[in-house]
Amino acid sequence: MNTILKCEKLYKTFGKKEILKNVSLEIKEGDILGFIGPNGAGKTTTIKLILGLQNITRGRVLINGYDVEKEFTKAIEKVGAIVENPDMYMYLTGYENLKLVANLYKNISKERIDKIVKLVKLENRINDKVSKYSLRNETKVRNSTSNFA
Ligand SMILES: Nc1ncnc2c1ncn2[C@@H]1O[C@H](COP(=O)(O)OP(=O)(O)O)[C@@H](O)[C@H]1O
Ligand SMILES: [Mg+2]
Repeated sequence: MNTILKCEKLYKTFGKKEILKNVSLEIKEGDILGFIGPNGAGKTTTIKLILGLQNITRGRVLINGYDVEKEFTKAIEKVGAIVENPDMYMYLTGYENLKLVANLYKNISKERIDKIVKLVKLENRINDKVSKYSLRNETKVRNSTSNFA
């Protein structure tokens, strides 16, 4: 199986705080990984390094063989990610939000969007504004309590 993600000896420091020390992991095609650890262990930081959202202090991340720092566009091309909480434009509909995200990728057809909407059984609500969805209130509560990811 192809290696999809490889983290090689990752280190991350914030000021003098060493957050990640020598983190390595490898995910093959088809793998599903549960990334668990105590609060503050560095899970979110690791994910942000993988996504190129924070600078890597030392080590490297390869996605589909591409170095996320050196070849960001190629590395991130097929990656979808939600870090900590879903974030959507509340004043747009679910469908409009999906279209916006689809525009970030190459060649996502209307059919593909419709298929996903069906898959998650949102057909009846997809043209409602996200502000009307029940998740919105849940997200508010989450943000005000703690960080779950
Ligand atoms: N931007 C930052 N600046 C300074 N310290 C940070 C920053 N982001 C995270 N940390 C610290 O890094 C550690 C790991 O955080 P995080 O990766 O969010 O942990 P987890 O997701 O496993 O709960 C925590 O001690 C946190 O306070
Ligand atoms: Mg976290």
